[in-house]
Order: sequence, then C-alpha cells, then structure tokens
Amino acid sequence: RARFVILVSGQGSNMQAIVQACQSGRCSAEVVAVLASRAQTGGITWAATQDIPTEIVPHTDFATREAFDEVLAQKIDTYAPDYVLLAGFMRVLTPAFVARYAGRLINIHPSLLPAFPGLHTHAQALAKGVQTHGCTVHFVTPVLDHGPIIAQGVVPVLARDTPESLAARVLAVEHQVYPTVASWLAEGRVHLCADQRVEVDGVENRLFTS
Ligand code: GAR
Repeated sequence: RARFVILVSGQGSNMQAIVQACQSGRCSAEVVAVLASRAQTGGITWAATQDIPTEIVPHTDFATREAFDEVLAQKIDTYAPDYVLLAGFMRVLTPAFVARYAGRLINIHPSLLPAFPGLHTHAQALAKGVQTHGCTVHFVTPVLDHGPIIAQGVVPVLARDTPESLAARVLAVEHQVYPTVASWLAEGRVHLCADQRVEVDGVENRLFTS
C-alpha cells in the first residue's frame, strides 16, 4: 500500500477525510504520519486518537523558512512516504523543499485555480461576484498555488453567502475531491506529463460537483 504523510496546520478535516478513506478501503494507502506546524491543532489530536504517529514542528522555533523546512523534511523522510499531502498547511514552502518532493507533493487550495491564489479565497470570490467557486487539488511547484491541476470541485455562490457560508460549502466538496485524488495516487494512476498537464488513468471527468 502507498504511504502518505499529511501536513496540517489546523482542524485537519481534509486529513480526516483521507484517513477515513484509507480506513474504509476506498483508498488503498496508509497515512503513516500526520505532522503539524503548530501545537494544539484539532487535526493532530484527532490523528493521535486513530493511532497514527504525529509530530509537531513549531515553525516559531526556527529563524528562517529554510531551517524549518529542513527539519520538517528530515522528519517526513523518516516515514519514507510515497506522497506528501498538504491539507490546510498554512506555511509557504521553500524551493528546496518543493524540489525534494518533486512530483510527490500535493496541495488542496480553496478556490478554482488559477482564480484566487493566496489567502482569503472565499472573500475574494464574493468580492469579484463570481457565481462558481470551489477547490483545486494540484501538484506543488515553487510558484505558490500554481502547480499542475489534478482535480477540481465546484460549488455555486449564493446570493446571501458570507465568506463563512461559502467556505463551508467548499469544504464539503473538498472532502469528496481530496480522498478521491488520494485513491488515484495510491493506485499509481496520476501522471504528471512533460508539458505539465496531468493525466489520470481511467478517469474522464475530474470535475466534482456537490
Ligand atoms: C481548507 O479549506 C483548505 O483548502 C485550506 O484550508 C482549509 C483547511 O481545512 N487550505 C489553504 O488555504 C491552503 N493555503 P482543514 O484543516 O479542515 O482541512
């Protein structure tokens, strides 16, 4: 079975969805560790209850991004993962870290990339008046939120939405998209082509609708 290390910074609901997919057999992988960039995240507490090894690497302990990323990478490598999955991991990773896991580092971002990279994506979407919004699972490259897209989930924007109500609708589709992509990765079906497009064996439609 494929080995995943998942990195979280917060509640870790995407991590939980992936762990549950692995536990139920929908995803033929094992989450071999959950690492957090700060203490007392709900995600790390929950992972421990599932008997998954957890580690906290507090980013505040490090003077530079490089120093933080080096220690993080050393810890990740002790688990020998096939893939490193970012699930609400709120640290920008250095080019050296991204290069170390080239083709094996995956992120979920709460917008339909290339629209709305960065932070506060739901407020950005409401401010622009877009009628569709969603999430993107993509390979991580050195340019933030710009890597090759594996799958997307789409939701409508409704008239009375707030950033919070829209975030909740997007999160629900995230919980469909990320475990499914994880299952494709586990089965070795996701290919990053030379032209930076992604192909997934046997999958015609990689757009998820709620
Ligand atoms: C998710 O909406 C995820 O897409 C987003 O943070 C949330 C984490 O929720 N990620 C980013 O904003 C990455 N820059 P979770 O901790 O419950 O999975």
